[in-house]
Order: sequence, then C-alpha cells, then structure tokens
Amino acid sequence: MIVVLERETDAVRAAGISAELASAGVATTPGTEAGGRAVLVSEREVSADQSTWIRGLPGVAEVTVTPGKYRLTSRVFRPTTTTVEVGAGVVIGGPGFVVAAGPCAVESAGQLDSVARAVADGGAAVLRGGAFKPRSSPYSFQGLEEHGLRLLEEQRDRTGLPVVTEVLEPAWIERVAKSADILQIGARNMQNYPLLREAGRSGLPVLLKRGLSATVEEWLLAAEYVLLEGNPNVILCERGIRSYEPSTRFTLDLSAIPVVKRVSHLPVIVDPSHSGGRADLVRPLALAAAAAGADGLLVDVHTDPTSARCDADQALTAPEFAELVEALERVLYAVDRPLT
Ligand code: E4P
Ligand code: PEP
Repeated sequence: MIVVLERETDAVRAAGISAELASAGVATTPGTEAGGRAVLVSEREVSADQSTWIRGLPGVAEVTVTPGKYRLTSRVFRPTTTTVEVGAGVVIGGPGFVVAAGPCAVESAGQLDSVARAVADGGAAVLRGGAFKPRSSPYSFQGLEEHGLRLLEEQRDRTGLPVVTEVLEPAWIERVAKSADILQIGARNMQNYPLLREAGRSGLPVLLKRGLSATVEEWLLAAEYVLLEGNPNVILCERGIRSYEPSTRFTLDLSAIPVVKRVSHLPVIVDPSHSGGRADLVRPLALAAAAAGADGLLVDVHTDPTSARCDADQALTAPEFAELVEALERVLYAVDRPLT
C-alpha cells in the first residue's frame, strides 16, 4: 500500500500518521513520490476496511493498494509509462526507440573519439562508455576512472550525444554526475542498496541493469530504492541472466520485456552485447528485443574489437553497428515505432 500525503502535510503530522498506522499494525517506510509529495509505503497488504480508514485520515491525499511486493514501480500506482528525458530532447520510454552505443570501456582519447564518431554517424542517440569497469578479476583492466570521465565529457561536447556511464560506489556519484547524463548501475551492483539510494538522491536518470541472477521482482524492488528517494527517472535494462546454457555468456530473457511492462510503468531497454557475449548474436537479439517491445538498446561498439581491453568478443565494428541500425529501422517500422 502507498499512502500519498497532501502537500500541506508537515513532517510532524506525517510522523503522527505513520504512528497511527503502526499502532493499527501497518508499519510504513517514508519516502517521496515522483511529484515531490511525501509517501508512506507499507510492505504488507491492508484490508479494504483499513484502506478506507487510512484514506479518511487528515493529511492523507490518496491511498493505492498495489499487488505483489513492489509499490512505487507498480503500474497500478502510476498507470502511465514513465518517460525519462536525457540530454536535450532524447526521451526513453516515449514513442521513439533509443539506441545507446559506444565502447564497453573507455580506453584512450583516440579510441573513444573514433567510436563516438562511428556511433553518432551510425544512428545512436546516446553514447555509452565505461570509465569504471566492474571486472571479475582484479587483474583485468579496471577502467581509466577520472581520466575516462573527462574523455566522455569531451565527446559529449563534441558530438552532442548524452552520456551513460557506470558508477560503482556512492562516493563517486557526485563526480560521475558531472560527466554523465545517465548513471549506470551495473548488473553486479543491482542489489547495492546504499548505491541505489544515493543514485536516487542525485535526481539523475538511472539505468538499472538486471542482476546476473535476479528475478524480475528483485529487479523492481531494487528500482524501488531509487524511486523512494523521489527520483522517478529509472530505465531498466535487461542484460541476460545466468542459466545452465553455456553457448551464450548469459541467457537474454526476452519475456522480461512484456512482463515488466505489464506490471511496471518504468521503461525497459535491452543490452544484446553483454547478454549473448558474442558479436554475431547482437543483431538477432537486438532485433528480437525491438520486436518484443523494448524501449531501446545498449550496444557495445569498437572500431577495432580485437584490441578491446574489455569484452572484445561482443563488440560490433562500426559498419556492423550501422547495419544493425538499418535493420532495426525495418523492425521498428513493423511494430509502428520510430527510431529516435
Ligand atoms: C563489462 O562491461 C564488465 O565489466 C564485464 O562484462 C566483466 O566481465 P569480466 O570481467 O568477467 O571480463
Ligand atoms: C556494462 O554495460 O558496461 C556492464 C558492465 O554490463 P553489466 O553490468 O550488464 O555486466
């Protein structure tokens, strides 16, 4: 259940309402909804009688009973799909399909410059690139960090493309936010709750990847941490989950797209690069994602994949990327959606 308080309800009255609910056995967590009003959210369901009683309490604007465990991410609470505006005029979750593309890792000024040119020319609306890389091995390339962020800023200024880049730690959010239009929270950090809360407080759009073995419910509950801070700008990214099948790096869960869209108002994009882990699978997975109703893609591109310092096997070359976008436009035409 979500109790939205009236704007005029002050903190003292809000605490009073929370105490009244608690004494009736309904424990709540305080937060803020997208419009800036205070909310009290309960984990447990309430009876129809209780919700009628709560609705009548002074200071309460509305009460929404949502099924399942998620609350602010639920389409019952917010029936209209959330649109997230990034940079100047790129909208994720609107009618347009948005392609974000770039190198898995920012490796050098020259590498980022050539890839950024290739993806801008090829039809990307957002530039991706990791300055901080969450690697399985501590001996693998960990990213250029601060220097990588500065290179992303340079390319944002030059190309005009908004930037999405991963942030690994709460302490870095303020710095990363200066160089990024979207904070990426990676699969490995999907359940890093302090990071989610801090990203929520930043107010910046957050691209939240699905954890390697996360259920849809766990994924939405992770998004809930961001929304509870009053930040509605969350873009979910399906990037494949662990399965028993070894022929792909992860198994892309295409069903998650319609499943999430049915229960949640948040936009969903797909990463066909990290899921398949192979460049030859990117095109079919990307086209399938567009046909299944995804709102966009996050694609790894490198002008010389053999030299890539991270995830070389899954990077598309510049011509492959341009060809993918052309094919995408044909699929998008069939599902009545323009490319942004
Ligand atoms: C990349 O973007 C991730 O850091 C990468 O997929 C990690 O994989 P690895 O460190 O196992 O190579
Ligand atoms: C990435 O997109 O750079 C990345 C690290 O992906 P994931 O978190 O999905 O592994």
